[in-house]
Amino acid sequence: MKDKIGALLEEVEKYTAGTAQQAEEFRLKFLSRKGQINDLFEEFKTVAPELKREIGQMLNKLRNSAEEKFKSLQEAGGAEKQNDSGKVDLTLPVNHFTGARHPLASVRKEILAIFSRLGFTVADGPEIEDDWHNFSALNFPEEHPARDMQDTFFIDHEIALRTHTSSVQVRVLEHTQPPVRIVMPGRVYRNEAISARAHCFFHQVEGLYVDKGVSFADMKQALLYFSREMFGSKTEIRLRPSYFPFTEPSAEMDISCTICGGKGCNVCKYSGWVEIMGCGMVDPSVLENCKIDSKTYSGFAFGMGIERITMLKYEVKDLRLFSENDVRFLAQFKSTI
Ligand code: DAH
Repeated sequence: MKDKIGALLEEVEKYTAGTAQQAEEFRLKFLSRKGQINDLFEEFKTVAPELKREIGQMLNKLRNSAEEKFKSLQEAGGAEKQNDSGKVDLTLPVNHFTGARHPLASVRKEILAIFSRLGFTVADGPEIEDDWHNFSALNFPEEHPARDMQDTFFIDHEIALRTHTSSVQVRVLEHTQPPVRIVMPGRVYRNEAISARAHCFFHQVEGLYVDKGVSFADMKQALLYFSREMFGSKTEIRLRPSYFPFTEPSAEMDISCTICGGKGCNVCKYSGWVEIMGCGMVDPSVLENCKIDSKTYSGFAFGMGIERITMLKYEVKDLRLFSENDVRFLAQFKSTI
């Protein structure tokens, strides 16, 4: 039996495969239920007790190296597949390879479409921003941690890559008298270690409504409408008190978990709720910073991450997939708007 194991181990180590199909052949031969390694485990039942320890260890080693080998063969096969799908034959009379909209682009489009039904128009601002628009006008105290080098990519003392789209609120309010009802999509940057849940750049949609008599209840209703349009008519929302320098009162908004419907699962960490945005009533001093009379006007604002909404909607588990340009990931979104 030892010889058999040794011979198989050698065969496994020498095995080469370049296609996904060959990798599958390897799996069938060695790792499937009817494969050779399983046969050996069957035979192992008849081994004399004093030999069990040694032969058991050999068998485990064989199985581990076959599993590792299979993984590397699969990766080689996958790479080949990806290269294939990238090949375009320009001599064909009609090119039938259609592209897919990037999931972040289609979700952004959907968010903007929902708010346009409530009368919001779209506004835009620069990604390279000064301290006033990104921080000071939004009421961030001089010593606020978000201004710290750890969070913000500074270009010089005064100029940075914007850390949120709230800066666009200031730009618009500075040169527009209310009523203002806008959504502001865009890319933002933060000095964070890249992982499945964080990236050094991501996308947000900011919302702002300033007019006479705008109330917290208006905000709640607008955000409930948004959540039900985006995640389905059974979706519930809840607002938890929070703090942002530019809103007072401030809240964080959760929706009932899109996966389990509120019963509890690992996505909502068994709480039934998932957080999707920050929001609140625009702080009067932000209005005054933009030369808007805070005694006459009030407003609400909100900000959400497009990645987060997309991950919840399409059950994407790793943020990095959005910027890796893997065609196998992107091609799955062909049917979305
Ligand atoms: N700017 C906040 C962030 O990036 C999000 C946010 C929270 C925006 C509350 C708002 C708001 O407009 O009212 O984390």
